[in-house]
Amino acid sequence: MGKRFYIKSYGCQMNVYDSERMSELMCKSGYKPVGEVTEAEIIILNTCHIREKAAEKVYSDIGRIRAQSKSGSAIQTSPLIAIVGCVAQAEGEEIIRRAPAVEIVMGPQSYQNLPAAIHEVEEARRAGNKGKVIITDFPTKSKFEQLPGRRSGVQPSAFLTIQEGCDKFCSFCVVPYTRGAEFSRPVEDILFEARNLVSNGAQEITLLGQNVNAFHGLDVEGQKSDLATLIKHIADIEGLSRVRYTTSHPKDMTEALIEAHRTIPECMPYLHLPVQSGSDRILEAMNRQHTRSDYIKIVKRLRAARPDIALSSDFIVGFPGETDDDFEQTLDLVREVSFAQAYSFKYSPRPGTPSAEKKEQISESVKSERLARLQTLLKEDQMKFNQTMIGRVLPVLFEREGREVGQLVGRSPYMQAVHAELHPDRERGRIDYDNSALDEDHCESYNSGIGRLCAVKIVKAGPNSLAGVFESELGDRSAA
Ligand code: SAH
Ligand code: SF4
Ligand code: F3S
Repeated sequence: MGKRFYIKSYGCQMNVYDSERMSELMCKSGYKPVGEVTEAEIIILNTCHIREKAAEKVYSDIGRIRAQSKSGSAIQTSPLIAIVGCVAQAEGEEIIRRAPAVEIVMGPQSYQNLPAAIHEVEEARRAGNKGKVIITDFPTKSKFEQLPGRRSGVQPSAFLTIQEGCDKFCSFCVVPYTRGAEFSRPVEDILFEARNLVSNGAQEITLLGQNVNAFHGLDVEGQKSDLATLIKHIADIEGLSRVRYTTSHPKDMTEALIEAHRTIPECMPYLHLPVQSGSDRILEAMNRQHTRSDYIKIVKRLRAARPDIALSSDFIVGFPGETDDDFEQTLDLVREVSFAQAYSFKYSPRPGTPSAEKKEQISESVKSERLARLQTLLKEDQMKFNQTMIGRVLPVLFEREGREVGQLVGRSPYMQAVHAELHPDRERGRIDYDNSALDEDHCESYNSGIGRLCAVKIVKAGPNSLAGVFESELGDRSAA
C-alpha cells in the first residue's frame, strides 16, 4: 500500500490551491491522503510567511508533530516532514537548523518535485541517514506544465491560480520575495483547467493571483490578454454559474474590469480590493502606488457599474510612523466607503522588507488599540450590510453540510455564508438533474444538495453569516 500523507495549508487561497494540486500529484504517485496528522507517514506543511505569527506557527506545529510521533526518534520510522510554501522559500536551510526533524524544504514554485524529493529522502533513510532536500530556486519552466492535467476532488466552488508572484514591492510585504516575479499563465491552459473543473463538479470558479488583476497571459494568437477578457471566456463555459477573482490591486483596476461587473452576469457582485490605509502619507511610505482619492474614485466607478457590489478590503494598522491623525484618516475612509467585510492586521515587521528597517516602529499597545477601534467600525458596517439582506431572496450555491442535521452552508453572490435547511423541501425541490457528466461521488453529494444553486429567502442576519429558508432550485447544471 502507498504511504499515507497529510497536508496542512496556512495562509492565503493560493496556498489552498497549491495544496490541492500537491495532493493530486501525491495521489498520482501512489500515496494515500489522510485527514489526521497522526495517521500519516508523510506530513506536508504548506506555509505562510506574511506575518510573524503565521511563520512562527509552523515551528510550534513541527514541535507538536514530533511530540505526537509514537515511533521514537529512529529516523526510519519517524514521519517524513516536508516544509513547502512561503516560509520554505524565505528561510530555506535555516528551517532545518531550527527544526532538525525537517527533511524537505521546498518553495511554492517547486512543489512539482515533491514525489522525487520524497523518493530521495527515502533512499537516504534506507542507507541509515536523515534525508535533506532543499529546493528554493525559481525554475524557468513553470510548475503548472509539470502537474497532472486532470483535476480531482473538485468542490462546487473551486480555486484556479492564473497568476503568480508580484512586482509591486509594497514596503511591508514578503510576497515578491517568497513567490517571485509576476507571471501569468497562458489563456488556453487556464481554460483547459477551468473546463476540467466544471466537468468535475465546479459551479463557481475563483481566479487566483497575488495580483490577479495584473493578469496578462498570452492567448492562442500570442497576444496579451487581460483579466476582463479571461473572465468573459470563463463565464462562457457551459455549466459554470459564477466567476470570482482575488486579490486585486487598486492600480490595476481597469475600466474593462469594472465593466465586466456590469456586463457579465456570472461575474459576482463582490470585490476584495485591499487599501491598507486611508492616509496618503502612509500609502506613500508603503509604496502602494495609489492614493486615497484614487481608491475612492475606483469605488465610485464600481458602484456606478454595479450598484449592489459588496466591497471587501485589507488594512494594516501601526505601520512605522503612523500617527493618530493617519489612523483617523483610515477610520474616515472606512466610514466613507462602508465595506461589506474586511480583514485587518497589526503591522508585522518582516525580515528583508524595507519598512522593517524603519526607526519609527509603533508600540504593540498602540497597534492593539488601533486594531480594536478599526475592527469595531468594520464589524458595524458588516452587520449593517448583512441586515440589508433580510427578506431578500438570494441565489445560494451550497458547498458543504452545516452543523445541524439537514443544514447546508453556501455563499450568496456577495460572499456571505448562508445557512439553510434543504431537507424539508427536498421532495418538492427534487427534479431530474442532468448530472450525467458527474462521476459517482459527485452525484451523491449533488443529490444531498451540495453543489446546487438555490433561491433562499433570508430570515436572519448575524455579523458573520445569514440564515435562510429554501425557496426553489435555480435550474440544473446545464442551465448556467
Ligand atoms: N496581494 C494582496 C495581498 C497580499 S497579503 C494585495 O496586494 O493586497 C494579504 C494581506 O496581508 C495584505 O493585503 C496586507 O493587508 C497584509 N499584510 C501583508 N504584509 C503584512 C505585514 N508585514 N504586516 C501586517 N499585515 C501584512
Ligand atoms: Fe504584497 Fe503589495 Fe504585492 Fe500585494 S501588491 S502581494 S501587498 S507587494
Ligand atoms: Fe502567505 Fe505566501 Fe500567501 S506569504 S499570504 S502563503 S503568498
